Amino acid sequence: MTKKIILTGDRPTGRLHIGHYIGSLKNRVELQNSGDYDSYIMIADMQALTDNARDPEKIRHSLLQVALDYLAVGLDPEKSTIFVQSQIPALSELTMYYLDLVTVARLNRNPTVKSEIAQKSFGESVPAGFLVYPVSQASDITAFKANTVPVGDDQEPMLEQTREIVRTFNRVYNSDVLVEPEGYFPPKGSGRLPGIDGNAKMSKSLNNGIYLADDADTVQKKIMSMYTDPDHIHVEDPGKVEGNVVFTYLDMFGTDKAKIQELKDQYRAGGLGDVKLKRYLVDVMEALLEPIRTRREQYAQDMGAVSDMLKAGSAKANKVAAQTLAEVRAAIGVNYF
Ligand code: TRP
Repeated sequence: MTKKIILTGDRPTGRLHIGHYIGSLKNRVELQNSGDYDSYIMIADMQALTDNARDPEKIRHSLLQVALDYLAVGLDPEKSTIFVQSQIPALSELTMYYLDLVTVARLNRNPTVKSEIAQKSFGESVPAGFLVYPVSQASDITAFKANTVPVGDDQEPMLEQTREIVRTFNRVYNSDVLVEPEGYFPPKGSGRLPGIDGNAKMSKSLNNGIYLADDADTVQKKIMSMYTDPDHIHVEDPGKVEGNVVFTYLDMFGTDKAKIQELKDQYRAGGLGDVKLKRYLVDVMEALLEPIRTRREQYAQDMGAVSDMLKAGSAKANKVAAQTLAEVRAAIGVNYF
């Protein structure tokens, strides 16, 4: 039986945080270790450049940080091909062909891109490359003929766009070269991790994240400053569990569900202080983060090896993508000579 193929990736605009972990990295490591898939994990530096073209140094730096985060959470270059988008020229060429099959109106309707444009306050100055990045993402996915794309919920519009391109391409060029992918999402309710300030989204620009590389002290400080229930002032006051970020995190990261239920009951009734509750969350988070941090530090001692790992992964990915590109060119008929 041929294995199913996974392709996924991240924009290297900064280090990865625990929202990335729960939203996608955790799934990837499990899928990788199941042995049922061929996994391709891509650092999407070209996509990151679509809104950072004037700050390439940030992307260059973040590239290695993201690679370290990958290794730290257990992505294994022996089992997964970890590579860099810009080092695969076939991806750009595929994008040029796909762009002809997508309308500007369709691009303008993409809900994730729309909200990103609003959030980044581009005004009238949306970079053309940013608007079309969903098409470039279709190239990333189809170049590897991926069946399965483990991502957060916000990436569903990209998958829908990819499937449309696949269907249109195969119909227009009467081919069966491209494969329709499916998203692989985290279990409902655990998709989106709020920031430590209670904001629905954990993000670098909001400065409300806990990073995989944060040291134990920083993690503790962040948790101690976490948003709870603003009306829970005295220990004996009854408190709210819903919308209380500490409980949201406990639900997502805690393993002792009975203990968490007990804490919820106690908090609701009154008599459980925020400090005590937060100390428990520190323990829960450290159980996850401490081994990740240790592995990260080990890999960080030899950045040359990390760079070599990306180079070898990119060489391998290049072969696969070049093969798909040759098939795409033949299907269109631009294989003249
Ligand atoms: N858009 C994704 C993100 O922001 C990153 C990405 C680029 C990606 N290309 C991809 C994800 C292909 C899955 C498949 O996180």
